[in-house]
Amino acid sequence: MPASRPELSLVPRPRTLSPRPGRLTLGKGTSVRALPGAEAAAGLLRTLLGPTTGLPLPPSSEGRVVLALDPQLGGLGDEGYGLTIGPETLLLRAARPDGLLRGVQTIRQLLPPDALSGGASDRSWELPCVEISDVPRYRWRGTMLDVARHFQPVSCLRRYVDLMALHKLNVLHLHLTDDQGWRMPVDALPRLTSVGGHRAQSLSDGVPHAGAYTKAELRDLVRHARERGVTVVPEIEMPGHVRAALAAYPALGNRPGRQLDVWTRWGVCDTVFGVHEEVFDFCRTVLQEVMDVFPSPYIHLGGDECPTGEWEDSPAARDRAAAAGLSGPGGLHGWFMGRVGSFLVEQGRRPVGWAETGGELPPEFTVMTWRDPALAAARRGHQVVAAHHRATYLDYAQSTDPDEPPGQRGALVPLHAVHAGDPVPRGAGPEEASRVLGTQAQLWTEYVRTPEQIEYLAYPRLCALADRAWSGGRSDWPGFVERLRDHTARLDALGVRYRPLTTRSLATASAGTARPPR
Ligand code: ACM
Repeated sequence: MPASRPELSLVPRPRTLSPRPGRLTLGKGTSVRALPGAEAAAGLLRTLLGPTTGLPLPPSSEGRVVLALDPQLGGLGDEGYGLTIGPETLLLRAARPDGLLRGVQTIRQLLPPDALSGGASDRSWELPCVEISDVPRYRWRGTMLDVARHFQPVSCLRRYVDLMALHKLNVLHLHLTDDQGWRMPVDALPRLTSVGGHRAQSLSDGVPHAGAYTKAELRDLVRHARERGVTVVPEIEMPGHVRAALAAYPALGNRPGRQLDVWTRWGVCDTVFGVHEEVFDFCRTVLQEVMDVFPSPYIHLGGDECPTGEWEDSPAARDRAAAAGLSGPGGLHGWFMGRVGSFLVEQGRRPVGWAETGGELPPEFTVMTWRDPALAAARRGHQVVAAHHRATYLDYAQSTDPDEPPGQRGALVPLHAVHAGDPVPRGAGPEEASRVLGTQAQLWTEYVRTPEQIEYLAYPRLCALADRAWSGGRSDWPGFVERLRDHTARLDALGVRYRPLTTRSLATASAGTARPPR
């Protein structure tokens, strides 16, 4: 978009946008007409714009701002929408309610940035006249936030969702349990949070760390996200990354009588779940309560970084492997994931796992290919969310700038790497391509303690991820950078503590960042 029209620099970029002459003025007298099925989107428009613009936007059958479900736009899928802004009227249409929610965010971006910032005065607001027809290329446009390593208050999660929704990201994957902390309350197993939610210190800092959500908080987060068209996908790690659960319930482990602490170090911990029936009872109990809080069709079961040494050393695990017809204890990982995954499938949910080269998950798992080529996973028959660490890990540093603040891991994922690849890997045929649901960024928090650090790491890289996931195809990097420069005015208005755009952060080639795999 020409720099003279910064309001048209949208992130993500709509599929088609045609500027029209003129502007539409919204004032105190502007009312909103929501046709049947469009009430929730009209409510969101009011909720988002009212406090920051001072516009009451009351409902009225005469409104000049019209929101409507229109089956004729069925070709735009669940999330596509059409937006026509003329000098007298605004018409937002979509086949499905989620399409209207996406269109509401486009309207927000088209307003002047100070319409996002609050402190509204008694003034009117102008929208540019445009015709937009928009549809996402991918249906999974996600971001994973690790609240297990460093617990974050619900206020942080709500704001995270708000900023995701502004960028039309639609999946918040919450990493709720790990070796260093268990944050999901389970009524039947209270020690998971009362014991597993506390660790004595982190990396010898001598400072205890603790936190757990209440179910009411999580349900409220799910509702808040749903109103913005965001699905919250919970992750309960197994059979590795379970040290916090083992500290709470030692009988779930491989060595009877052993008492472990909630882990105070980072990395891959060699303590894992045992494979006796009590462990599967535990998993079912936990997952029943998880499903009760999270209506998401997808439930993430982890499955990454599971050392098998404890199983090899355990006569009970070796017997179990033999009884299951496995060639050895190494096969227990896939067997374990298959058993728990089948339970989810019986409950009408879809299991998700982290894909690693060499560690096979059962085919019914949707996989996040953090350390496995997406093409290989698609060829094995999985549904795939492209999540390769070299393109999507937001805890990796954004630049080689010596002034980069602490809290970033040594490897690099510059902005350009996030924008570079298409989620569908090169070489994919039509069937493999059809298995790629989309892509997702991950923000692990071993070294990240505060909401401020989280925002710095997430933005502007989530802008890049949102742009790629929405548009697909080849990356138009120069066009993205131009739009992003304008878009930072919106981030500023919202007080987002993003990494400033600098020559280094916008560099297209840095050491170790050749075109990333997906
Ligand atoms: C992972 O980074 N362990 C999925």
